[in-house]
Amino acid sequence: MKAGTYVSPKQVEMTEREIPIPKADEALIKVSYGGICGTDMMIYHGLHPRAEAPLILGHEFSGVVEQVGENQHVKKGDKVAVEPLISCGKCAACRNGQMHVCAKLRYIGIDKDGGFAEYATIPFNRLHVLPESVTEKEAAMLEPLAVAIHTVRRSKLLVGDTVAILGAGPIGLLIGIIAQRAGAGKIFISDVSSMRLQVARKLGLEAIDARDLDIVQVVKEYTNGVGADVVFEVAGSQITANQMIDCIKYQGEIMVVSVYKKPPTIQLAAMHFREISLSTTRCYSPEDFTKAIELLAQNKINLDPLISHILPLEEIKTGFELMENPDQSLKILFQP
Ligand SMILES: NC(=O)c1ccc[n+]([C@@H]2O[C@H](COP(=O)([O-])OP(=O)(O)OC[C@H]3O[C@@H](n4cnc5c(N)ncnc54)[C@H](O)[C@@H]3O)[C@@H](O)[C@H]2O)c1
Ligand SMILES: [Zn+2]
Ligand SMILES: [Zn+2]
Repeated sequence: MKAGTYVSPKQVEMTEREIPIPKADEALIKVSYGGICGTDMMIYHGLHPRAEAPLILGHEFSGVVEQVGENQHVKKGDKVAVEPLISCGKCAACRNGQMHVCAKLRYIGIDKDGGFAEYATIPFNRLHVLPESVTEKEAAMLEPLAVAIHTVRRSKLLVGDTVAILGAGPIGLLIGIIAQRAGAGKIFISDVSSMRLQVARKLGLEAIDARDLDIVQVVKEYTNGVGADVVFEVAGSQITANQMIDCIKYQGEIMVVSVYKKPPTIQLAAMHFREISLSTTRCYSPEDFTKAIELLAQNKINLDPLISHILPLEEIKTGFELMENPDQSLKILFQP
């Protein structure tokens, strides 16, 4: 089969592999679509602490069940989405049902071969059967959508709240979409990429070009100097780590979604005087993933504006090169 493989830093290639044989607790999936994410870019740059070459990349993907044992919740021909988290089941978090903060959390597509291939073997319990109305293309974006749902559900966002989102990458934009559904009032979102700001506008978000405007000033003006009710930091830079504190209102809560490549300096004193809280979020719970499917099934969300490219797997190199430039790409899907 064709497989999109991480070979060495800055080298991804289409390689030829044997179709994998599913173990007793796995199904064989024929992959329909797989999306590139920031974590894949970390692996691509050789910066991921766990991923080891050669590795079939891809943890955001959907497909159709090709082969499976009997008496499972999936059967041959089912359209499925893959929830790629693999938790240990033994640590304190796992034993308390909080598998997404497992002390030894692993990912399909990072710690073992993933979905940028014609076929993948996936444990049954990591498969969600898709309702008829959810397309396989949309389902390839369920994973980042679940991140956004988890983040907004963890926040204290209330109907009518003013929101500031720092960074209009796929995750920032999805948080914008979910905050809209959750009843937010005005939603400001900043970025430095004209293309991403244009998508934000298309989604009905108040796009702020951070090259010309300071989102802190814009939010302060709009809220009579008070600040946003909720701030989501999704750009992962020192500049936005400063802005998140200046943007939030007194006693507000900042949601840090970013995984910083370089540890930022956080101005704790500035937080102290206004009793600001800072929360972090990691992936999603199974419930968030199910809710993501439900929102798509109800046609409550249109993910099409986020897809910048759909490429055949043969163009894996091009896909990763495009992802290097935020002004040329947003969500890139491969179709094996
Ligand atoms: N918490 C989690 O479980 C989780 C899951 C997925 C991703 N993440 C993290 O979330 C972050 C966003 O993910 P993504 O896939 O959208 O990444 P991305 O790199 O596509 O998006 C970041 C955006 O920030 C923009 N940006 C850069 N400097 C800026 C500035 N000064 N002001 C405003 N915007 C600026 C970039 O142009 C880009 O569009 C990353 O740090 C990623 O690691 C966390
Ligand atoms: Zn991802
Ligand atoms: Zn665990």
